[in-house]
Amino acid sequence: MQLDLKAVADLTAVEQAARDALTAVVYPPNATPTPGEELTSAAPQWVILAWEGEQLVSHVGIVVRDVTLDGREVRIGGIGSVKTHPAARGRGHAGVALRRASVFFAADPAIAFALLVCLPPLVPFYGKLGWQPFDGALLVEQPGGRVPFTANEVLVLPVHDRAPRAGTLDLQGLPW
Ligand SMILES: CC(C)(COP(=O)(O)OP(=O)(O)OC[C@H]1O[C@@H](n2cnc3c(N)ncnc32)[C@H](O)[C@@H]1OP(=O)(O)O)[C@@H](O)C(=O)NCCC(=O)NCCS
Repeated sequence: MQLDLKAVADLTAVEQAARDALTAVVYPPNATPTPGEELTSAAPQWVILAWEGEQLVSHVGIVVRDVTLDGREVRIGGIGSVKTHPAARGRGHAGVALRRASVFFAADPAIAFALLVCLPPLVPFYGKLGWQPFDGALLVEQPGGRVPFTANEVLVLPVHDRAPRAGTLDLQGLPW
């Protein structure tokens, strides 16, 4: 498996097409939407692409954002768009890509912790990778204004600081 980390702005047309194809197979257009899918989300700034030969098998999106925790500004890493081709699941691709994302966050001394949201059944999967539940309030922007995020579980990962387990986190923008 080959792992690439790239800024979205630097993706080639082939890489972008592979991303689109993976999204279409993981989230077929006619499938029932999963909770949270109806929300407007921020596009990733970087992506981790896991390849088996010419086939894109797994994808992780990354954002870095200055947010507030209980009114105090803090820089955090964000993980979203985690997906693996159905034919390539259970082989550790997403786990490896998520660990690569942690290394990326650790390279920036300003990043205090990381945050992702996921469906409840996936909490144990992320838990094995060190992610912990955030039980406070999460505020996010949506086209209609700022709203509490309640669609999914919120998990945090320590990077250069402890990850908060409580308090009010305002993402100061769209969720990811
Ligand atoms: C979740 C997903 C990214 C995992 O990718 P993967 O490359 O198979 O992941 P890995 O091989 O590293 O690890 C697989 C683990 O995910 C768990 N898992 C995957 N889907 C799961 C589900 N729906 N419910 C519970 N556990 C699930 C597997 O049981 C396995 O757990 P284990 O490590 O304890 O054995 C993949 O199943 C997927 O693309 N799902 C659809 C999109 C999605 O839900 N993305 C996550 C958004 S937060």
